Amino acid sequence: MKRCYIVGYPVEHSMSPAMHNAAFKALGFDAEYKLAPVKPGQLVTFIDKLRDNEVLGANVTIPHKVEVMRHLDHIDETARAIGAVNTIVHRDGRLYGYNTDSTGGVEALTEKYGSLKDRNVTILGAGGASRAITYQVSRVDCKVTVLNRSVERARNLVDDLRPQTLAELRYGGLTQLPGVIDDTDVLINTTSVGMSPNVSNSPVPEGLLHGGLFVYDVVYNPVKTRLLRDAEAKGAGTLSGVKMLVYQGAEAFRMWTGVEPPVELMQRVVEERLGA
Ligand code: ATR
Repeated sequence: MKRCYIVGYPVEHSMSPAMHNAAFKALGFDAEYKLAPVKPGQLVTFIDKLRDNEVLGANVTIPHKVEVMRHLDHIDETARAIGAVNTIVHRDGRLYGYNTDSTGGVEALTEKYGSLKDRNVTILGAGGASRAITYQVSRVDCKVTVLNRSVERARNLVDDLRPQTLAELRYGGLTQLPGVIDDTDVLINTTSVGMSPNVSNSPVPEGLLHGGLFVYDVVYNPVKTRLLRDAEAKGAGTLSGVKMLVYQGAEAFRMWTGVEPPVELMQRVVEERLGA
């Protein structure tokens, strides 16, 4: 039996085992996706186990997405630009690192919204999720403004990514949102504000939202965040983070197996778990 893992600490809350195991079962694939709770400091020992014959690869989550890069044989260009790996593929004893948060997250957005070319995109947050999304959004010719509570962190992100992107990239503090939101076409929240259990919080004051926006919240728990509910009430288009979670997983699955996964089933499994 083949094996995949999710490596992180803590990982017990992860949706990935249910999502991938349902996909393996539906396709009659003799494989199992397992939790690997690995504490910081124990990563090297675990990574070596991924070179076993039966291992297809792994997903990597907090706190190892950056640290893991030092232990792999090859890092793909996107993951290198972002500075984080969330997917490892094992091929003949060698380990390859990718970032499917980036590609999966933006594929989910463009599938529903359409092309971002020439659009004004405002991204809230400057952490790991923002790095992945900002990099991928900025690969087309558009205007991207990254706003973060800590302006310093937004500046670092933009300085790091600017040389590798096509978009016009700007940064600022969250307090600058009122000055940019009227001209924004697509607003993306990558902060953790509004995540369970703080479900009544939103990173955007309700009064700033307008019907000309498309709002994408990468938070997936709850599926409909306060931000998305407020945006819908204003007539804005919306997209929840569930699709990003599913699409990053689906892309990893394709790389591990070479087979097209049952994406709708994976989404249904996640939504059921989240009580949506
Ligand atoms: P992730 O990898 O999920 O992006 P992270 O690197 O911890 O997680 O980043 C969390 C993001 O949410 C950051 O942009 C953080 O802002 P700071 O860089 O200023 O800390 C943002 N964030 C978290 N709590 C917040 C809050 N209460 N208000 C505004 N932004 C918040």
